[in-house]
Amino acid sequence: MINHLIIEYVISGSQARGSPTRSLTVAEPVRISSPSPSRGRRSLRIDIVNKNILWLFLCISVLTGCAYFAVQSAPKKSPSTTRRPAAEQADALFWKTLHGGQYDQIPVALNALTAAYIVDPGDATTAAHIGWLHVWRIAERTRMVDIPATITDHAVMGRRYFEEAVRLNPKDARYLGFYGGILLAEGSIHQDEKLTRKGYFTLMDSIKAFPEFNYFTAGYVMSERPRDSKQFNEGLEYQWLNLDVCVGEKVNRHNPDYQKYMHLKTDKGQKRVCWNSWIAPHNLEGFFLNMGDMLVKAGDWQTAQKIYANARFSDEYNQWKFRDLLEERITQAETNVTAFNAPQDTAGRTAQPIMFQSAFSCMGCHQE
Ligand code: HEC
Repeated sequence: MINHLIIEYVISGSQARGSPTRSLTVAEPVRISSPSPSRGRRSLRIDIVNKNILWLFLCISVLTGCAYFAVQSAPKKSPSTTRRPAAEQADALFWKTLHGGQYDQIPVALNALTAAYIVDPGDATTAAHIGWLHVWRIAERTRMVDIPATITDHAVMGRRYFEEAVRLNPKDARYLGFYGGILLAEGSIHQDEKLTRKGYFTLMDSIKAFPEFNYFTAGYVMSERPRDSKQFNEGLEYQWLNLDVCVGEKVNRHNPDYQKYMHLKTDKGQKRVCWNSWIAPHNLEGFFLNMGDMLVKAGDWQTAQKIYANARFSDEYNQWKFRDLLEERITQAETNVTAFNAPQDTAGRTAQPIMFQSAFSCMGCHQE
């Protein structure tokens, strides 16, 4: 309608050139198909119309092009080189909360970190730690008696902060792995297939960049899928590949005895993430707990029993909060095949959840 008016105005203007009155009301409708006594005048008019349409489109595309280039050429946010005292203080609270398993205190730590981030939004570590707290909040949501629908907001927030962390420090591929995982979650909440695919391919990139860490990350998020799905089986394969890359050879899949690899333990380089550390004091135990759960879910409870049992080789096994739970997993492996495949209720609960869906999906490795 607006276009029509503009064209009409232009025509009437050009027609009225030289005449004393130039107004909208003098516009003559352009009749292209009907015969007219003056052919020459009509075709001139059509020419003018076409030209003006062309200009109009040109203007529009230049304007949108402008917006595109303005956005693309925006100055890059640069990462901070030093950390502020507020960030360090907030971090101390962050680690205390994480290692202490103080799920209820997440809002307090989150507030301290977010305040530090606002002061220095170039701090990649702060951004990542905020992202991790949001992820923890949503991951262990079954700790809550009533899970509010708004728990899903933590996926959106977690994704936003990991996006920032990846941009500020693309070299830490742990960020990329968690970014991929949380994208998958967000995609699934919003039923946004584009996001889901982006999440999947981000996870693939993260594996390439840091296989020792991200085979686990990618496979862990896939453990939630139905056991006959492609993704679940891919995720289980990643757990095996994670072991292979950690020990530098193909681990025997029929008799996965990890004792012979325990001397490889290191706190250096990429392989450090294969073992227990200050950051993840029970990483090894948690890894085997999840892998056993995935094998049971797949129906292979006999191999699962051997995988679970590898957790006992950890020097920290006796101090591990989930030791009794793992021992129970070994004795109940066969009966858990059915239990682990039971459907979830709308809040995502099942009577006997696998580790990923449990109230210790982060604490299984991180709680002191
Ligand atoms: C199988 C064990 C395991 C599980 C489960 C696990 N993590 Fe980790 N996490 C690790 C390991 C290993 C590292 C890397 C340690 C390193 O870099 O030296 C790590 C790194 C981290 C860090 C590192 C922060 C830093 O600045 O170095 C945070 C935070 C974290 N995990 C949070 C979580 C949250 C939240 C969950 C639950 C969704 C979770 N993790 C689940 C083993 C685990």
